Amino acid sequence: AHQWKGVIEEYRERLPMLAGAPTVTLHEGGTPLIEAEHLSELVGAQVYLKYEGLNPTGSFKDRGMTTAISVAARAGAKAVICASTGNTSASAAAYATKAGMTCAVLVPDGKIAMGKLSQAIAHGATLLQVEGNFDDCLTVARKLAESYPVELVNSVNPARIEGQKTAAFEVVDALGDAPEIHCLPVGNAGNITAYWRGYRQYAEITDGLAPVATRRPRMWGFQAEGAAPIVKGHPIDHPETVATAIRIGNPASWQQAEAARDESEGLIDAVTDDQILAAHRLLSSREGVFVEPGSAASVAGLLTSAEAGLVPRGARIVCTVTGHGLKDPQWALRMADGSEVEPVKVSVDAVSVASALGLEG
Ligand code: F0G
Repeated sequence: AHQWKGVIEEYRERLPMLAGAPTVTLHEGGTPLIEAEHLSELVGAQVYLKYEGLNPTGSFKDRGMTTAISVAARAGAKAVICASTGNTSASAAAYATKAGMTCAVLVPDGKIAMGKLSQAIAHGATLLQVEGNFDDCLTVARKLAESYPVELVNSVNPARIEGQKTAAFEVVDALGDAPEIHCLPVGNAGNITAYWRGYRQYAEITDGLAPVATRRPRMWGFQAEGAAPIVKGHPIDHPETVATAIRIGNPASWQQAEAARDESEGLIDAVTDDQILAAHRLLSSREGVFVEPGSAASVAGLLTSAEAGLVPRGARIVCTVTGHGLKDPQWALRMADGSEVEPVKVSVDAVSVASALGLEG
């Protein structure tokens, strides 16, 4: 029987950067593209969800970590470091463990989801909570990698982008061609950069390989309103959003994100925390797909764009939902009006359970 081998083995011929590197893999990638019937009806298009929460550590970061850690292993690295809002640290910790390397992670104090924190600790990373935001953590991590024998595995590492582009390959392989529009949350802007590279590469002759797609999608990126430097046109010193994954004020791949937007005739826009949480609720309650809040920014952006009349009727649209809902589960327990959900208690007795369920005999 066939087992998915992970993105390096599955796409080796499209990843020349990995030549001669050992493959450090947890069989990431191969994630489902799920038809979203309710969303499709709401926006009058054919909408699919690329469910990246089903990667080994629960986010898309694993696609770039298998490649970054494999390239680091080829170079003989013994230690890696990253700054993170949580998912990168969970992924780096797992893949470093797989490769027998040590891992240090710098995270913003008090601003990362519990699930992500426990993953990094579980995999034995040295975790430091920095008294600053993600942008401060990345500045420090870059300095350390310049002066000490540790490999930086943030998305400024080219091997990260190289691995993450495989998500675009998978979308085209599943649909038979590129969609017309691709929606993504934008934080440090590595992922929109990676998808655009993947889509371009699949629509052109690269490394002597024939094109697979006949077109490239418009790239639609969405930042959280309180952390929307690209939309506002300047860095944000104190980014704030409930979507802690994308609480970033000065994205490292800012220029590449703008290039993806402009070359694809796409857009980068902002969505409010309320819109993010509404999309988060819609995904879990209407589509059966549980994601973390930051992931729902792509869907929130699609919904606001549809309201603004920007969605072409019947278009094929893919929204990447980047991380699993179990990473940061508390949001599901909060109702639209802000009140907390209280589970109903019942005694061990069929009649009272039936009555609590509103069943009539
Ligand atoms: N969605 C999730 C769940 C993320 O964790 C991130 C980034 C993004 C979207 C945005 O992707 O940065 O490539 O634009 N998380 C990083 C981290 C910053 O440290 O885990 P991006």
